[in-house]
Amino acid sequence: MLDFLGTKQRTHTCGELRTAHAGQTVTIMGWVNRRRDHGNLIFLDLRDRYGMTQVVLDKDLSPDGHAKAEQARPEYVICATGAVRERGKDAVNPKMPTGEIEIAASELLILNDAKVPPFSPAEEAIGNEEVRLKYRYIDLRRPEMQHNFEVRHKVALAVRKYLSSQGFFEIETPFMTRSTPEGARDYLVPSRVHPGEFYALPQSPQLFKQILMISGMDRYFQIARCFRDEDLRADRQPEFTQIDLEMTFPQQETVFRVVEGFLAAAFKAVGIALPTPFPQITYDEAMRRFGIDKPDLRLPGLTDVREAFTVGQLETLAIDPALPIVAVRVPKVGELSRKEREDNRPLFDMRKGAKLIDDLKRLEKTFPEVVAKVRAAADANEHDLLVIVAGDPTHHIRASDTKLTGRLSEREIAVLSAAGNLRVELAKKYADRHGCFGVTDAVVGDPERETGLVEGSRAFRPIWVTDFPMFEYDEAEQQWMPAHHPFTSPHDEDMDRLVSDPASVRARYYDLAMNGLELGSGSIRIHRQDVQQEIFRALGMSDEEAKTRFGFFLEALQYGTPPHGGIALGLDRLVMILAGATSLREVIAFPKTAKAIDLMVDAPTPVSDAQLRELHIRPTKQ
Ligand code: AMO
Repeated sequence: MLDFLGTKQRTHTCGELRTAHAGQTVTIMGWVNRRRDHGNLIFLDLRDRYGMTQVVLDKDLSPDGHAKAEQARPEYVICATGAVRERGKDAVNPKMPTGEIEIAASELLILNDAKVPPFSPAEEAIGNEEVRLKYRYIDLRRPEMQHNFEVRHKVALAVRKYLSSQGFFEIETPFMTRSTPEGARDYLVPSRVHPGEFYALPQSPQLFKQILMISGMDRYFQIARCFRDEDLRADRQPEFTQIDLEMTFPQQETVFRVVEGFLAAAFKAVGIALPTPFPQITYDEAMRRFGIDKPDLRLPGLTDVREAFTVGQLETLAIDPALPIVAVRVPKVGELSRKEREDNRPLFDMRKGAKLIDDLKRLEKTFPEVVAKVRAAADANEHDLLVIVAGDPTHHIRASDTKLTGRLSEREIAVLSAAGNLRVELAKKYADRHGCFGVTDAVVGDPERETGLVEGSRAFRPIWVTDFPMFEYDEAEQQWMPAHHPFTSPHDEDMDRLVSDPASVRARYYDLAMNGLELGSGSIRIHRQDVQQEIFRALGMSDEEAKTRFGFFLEALQYGTPPHGGIALGLDRLVMILAGATSLREVIAFPKTAKAIDLMVDAPTPVSDAQLRELHIRPTKQ
């Protein structure tokens, strides 16, 4: 028999009571986390978002309450009234904030029962993620998940407060709109009223925020939901949230200061001091020093070890002398066994002609002086793992390989990025065992600014990456594509090479990376219609096509568009880093699986033929 709540009111949460409350009569409500039956005494741990409190039912004190407690099972919803009392010395639980008290219940109500749950929120690690997602309401009861959402809330609130203090207006832009190109496929919404026509869900509010600048809103922000139909990974969801902003008349640095300001505020809201300003690196330098455009500064960078080799040695080793030769050092991992080296080979991307030397002991037998120089250059000690990545001279250059991206050739980038990926993959693989993500290893810019970015054993290392190339060559499409999006402004001084040498054109496009993750992306935009049209042409878009796709925008640009720029940061990614989680699914309340399925509500679903007909969609036979 379930009890009615009647007029009972909760006086305290399950995380609140301390010894100072001893003697007070209180009423708490929550879920049964655990029940221990000691005959005449039954202990119930009641749990809510705020914590856990032990309730004791003594048969002599409250025979009715005791009888109820006998029926109570995990996840039953309970209301307990009674006096707070200090626990005896032996019974104190130092792990619980409420561990010094308990409630001697005089009354117990069972407000609701619960089926035996598929897993207990009291368990720390639940292996089967599918079950967690199907029963998300139970999963979200876990203290760890509740903590993640507390972090998320605090971060979003701090960002709102900060941006508002800096004169930004929060403005909502439509969900049902036209396609905005951000490099993914659109989710489409069919129109019932306009047969055969579709809205697109926004991949980002990009064009709307630019139009808000044309509208004179000066500073806009939005915690905006975006939709992208793309292949999913741990750091990608089909629906995700951006902290999106745009401002009028900014320099790149103006945008940086705003982002640093709201990030420092967000970190502060969860008790972490994040020093500002953040270091900066150009794209070219990031590729040279880290082999990646989102450097993880918790690891040492790549070391150029070309000088350690003579021309003759390179020939013997079949290494291309014209390509980079770099050492990858992974701290604390030490020498690997032959088996481990073989297991690690798939982490190395050799497709584009990079070459791995991962057995330095063997190399040392033939060329001891080379290995000594490499070790010294990379500052490696015997506890570090050291490998060399170089270019393979037998790799034939295809036509597309000769095209330049920035000032590095594609073959150089191939070697550097093979090294860069290996650096991160090895560190990730051995992180648990060796804790190889050091704290102040890679220094960019002013070393003084690089210290102190530590919270306990956790380090947060932001870095701005600037001057990306404007275009990337898409081999499949045989076509130049925008490295960011087509509304990004090229550098003024590179404008005259848009057609003659697109590879060398730098964009006023910047990324914010943190701990090896791309946290945000933005740019100074094109504000002149003639330049925008020229970029569309450079991307192989005819004037006709540009007009069909972006006519409204090209027109808007002609009515007095101020210089403007902005950025968007992934809120989910930011919270994931702050919560110490490894998947976005840990910080999104109702996420999709890697196959874009919502397991709880079971979406997507087929719809009836009638509904399809109403939308003017003819069902096809599968
Ligand atoms: P971009 O496409 O780089 O830029 O996105 C900005 C940031 O949004 C986050 N993000 C994602 N997070 C989770 N799942 C996804 N599928 C996903 N895709 C992107 C990342 C990324 O850095 N309109 C531009 C911004 C601008 O130019 O102002 C844009 O959307 O953290």
